[in-house]
Amino acid sequence: MQKILVTGASGFVGSRVVARWRNEYKILAPSHSELDITDRESVDSYFLQHTPDVVVHLAAISNTWYCEQHPDESYRVNVEGVCNLAAAAARNGVKFIFFSSDQVYNGNCESGPLSEDVAVAPENVYGRHKLEAEQRALELCPTAVALRATWMYDIEREGMPVHANFVLNIARAIKDRTPLVLPVREYRGITWVRDVVEYLPATFALPGGVYNFGAECSMDTYETACCYCEMLVGLQSGPLLQPDYERYPEHERNLAMSTDKIFRASGGRICFGSTMDGLRIFAEMNP
Ligand SMILES: NC(=O)c1ccc[n+]([C@@H]2O[C@H](COP(=O)([O-])OP(=O)(O)OC[C@H]3O[C@@H](n4cnc5c(N)ncnc54)[C@H](OP(=O)(O)O)[C@@H]3O)[C@@H](O)[C@H]2O)c1
Repeated sequence: MQKILVTGASGFVGSRVVARWRNEYKILAPSHSELDITDRESVDSYFLQHTPDVVVHLAAISNTWYCEQHPDESYRVNVEGVCNLAAAAARNGVKFIFFSSDQVYNGNCESGPLSEDVAVAPENVYGRHKLEAEQRALELCPTAVALRATWMYDIEREGMPVHANFVLNIARAIKDRTPLVLPVREYRGITWVRDVVEYLPATFALPGGVYNFGAECSMDTYETACCYCEMLVGLQSGPLLQPDYERYPEHERNLAMSTDKIFRASGGRICFGSTMDGLRIFAEMNP
């Protein structure tokens, strides 16, 4: 049985990874207090003591707003923490899989779907730190795999935390009958976290590099929400969803990614559908 070290195992993605794969792999899931990724010596001694075969690195400060307010803390965790793990993985011959974000594209002006080789210049702290982490981790550990994830969604499940997300925001708007204002000048894939978790083992065999990792999307965020609402309850979104034409006045915010690279590199095993396909399956399985 392969031994997988999962960092951030108490988080939104990490808790679902552990629950899904604990019978197929020997999972090491230290808490934040058992392994602080910003402490290089602790990271090094953890590797020596527990000898993982693969690291799935999910520990992070994932809240973009918090990163904007606390850039030093974001840097320590989202850049230096990644580097500590990448260096230890390289020294010990361990496959290093880590999560980056579609936020690296948030300064891009061209229309999507964006491939991994477009020039990027992220406009927020979180995106800049994720980008620097990708670059530095791949220098330290060329076999590392950086996965640029989209915004993910799920409902709350036992023992698994959930953040504010697309489906919960819409569910709340329907329940409370409070209008939800959504940007028209924004394009982004939104992915059911289950798909991300399912595809994770297939990433262990990928060659080192950066990969887009989430559902594609050609619709703007307001349009996506309208289609989802109509599909859910046959609801004409009417007053429930309101278009925001003012947000992102400088240029459209395009985070919509192409997943051709990971599809090819995985021999077709990693095949994200469209955001709407994912929402449809999610709605059928979570009535
Ligand atoms: N959620 C999304 O929609 C989304 C979208 C794109 C990319 N991502 C990326 O995907 C990854 C997983 O995100 P997530 O939503 O699962 O994050 P999350 O729910 O915020 O969980 C973060 C985890 O990191 C741990 N952690 C924080 N600082 C740590 C440190 N110094 N040492 C060890 N552990 C530490 C936290 O433990 P404590 O709570 O105990 O501190 C928690 O378990 C992250 O890299 C995130 O940036 C997420």
